Amino acid sequence: MSARIDPPLAMLAELTHRCPLACPYCSNPTELLGKSAELSTETWADVFAQAAALGVLQLHLSGGEPASRSDLTEIAAAAHKAGLYTNLITSGIGLTEKRLYALEEAGLDHIQLSLQGVAAAMADRIGGYKGGYDRKMHVAEIIGKIGIPLTLNAVMHRENLDDLPATLEMAQRLGARRIEIACVQFQGWALTNRSALQPTPEQVNRAKKTVAEAIPRLKGKLVIDFVPPDYFSDFPKACMNGWGSTGVNVAPDGTVLPCHAAATIPHLSFENVRDRSLEMIWYHSEAFNAYRGTDWMPSLCQTCERRDIDFGGCRCQAMAILGEAGAPDPVCRKSPGRAVLDELLETESSQIEPPQFVYRR
Ligand code: FES
Repeated sequence: MSARIDPPLAMLAELTHRCPLACPYCSNPTELLGKSAELSTETWADVFAQAAALGVLQLHLSGGEPASRSDLTEIAAAAHKAGLYTNLITSGIGLTEKRLYALEEAGLDHIQLSLQGVAAAMADRIGGYKGGYDRKMHVAEIIGKIGIPLTLNAVMHRENLDDLPATLEMAQRLGARRIEIACVQFQGWALTNRSALQPTPEQVNRAKKTVAEAIPRLKGKLVIDFVPPDYFSDFPKACMNGWGSTGVNVAPDGTVLPCHAAATIPHLSFENVRDRSLEMIWYHSEAFNAYRGTDWMPSLCQTCERRDIDFGGCRCQAMAILGEAGAPDPVCRKSPGRAVLDELLETESSQIEPPQFVYRR
């Protein structure tokens, strides 16, 4: 372990795995937790107070669909009371005008609204929820009326990447200040559906051009964050900005994870806020220290000039593709695992007819 451990800056609180949508790109685990496993309002309030004392500044309330919890307003109020800048990540389903006003009054700072598609037929098919698109548009309208800062979170993949220009237009129409064009990361349900979601090289090239043209054109009107498709990159992303460096995730049952997919690494054991303080878990748990810093790295990453840029990439991806969480991320061109990833990519991105979605249920 390298010397100093800084406190976390951001927390992702997965309030529930319940969700009316069934998106095949969902990053939740394929084994979903039920309502009875979820932390209570009081426990979440305590976790937020601990997080703020530890140094966390930003809180993302996520799920599943956070609005599936009837105590969402109380939870947002507790986060505000703890002094955290609070962002709600939502599909919009389950949010009424009354609830949105209550959330604003409770001190909610920001909403990140997910977008499955720019037209009802496509969006409802991807989300596996009929009528979802119209309800989302209605929710976006109310958010605009209330004036809560809005980011649109467009999750892009083979089915909708060609709609990127229309997606950017929609963000402006809905009054979003920022759009995150997030090409699917293959974790959880998205990994199950990778073959169906994998874009083609032509789609990726067109998307990059669209983004390069739109960024200067929309400067001052819309901030565009583009998360390019991982498998088409030469170098891995600095996942979580480095394991155990700035972010902490809390699962619906209180399990504390270094990232949302960390539970897919079978040899790690994870602690729970019901048993131990967040501070002790952050600084001393085996799971957080497993891939923290640079000492754990294989020599390829240790000696690489990008060592402190991408931190060896994503541990969960190394696990998913190579079956070894401590290996260099197979996205890296220097990684011996790149050949495995290239073969997958070649097969999946050249399919004429991709497989049907396996919906999250
Ligand atoms: Fe777990 Fe990248 S998703 S380290």
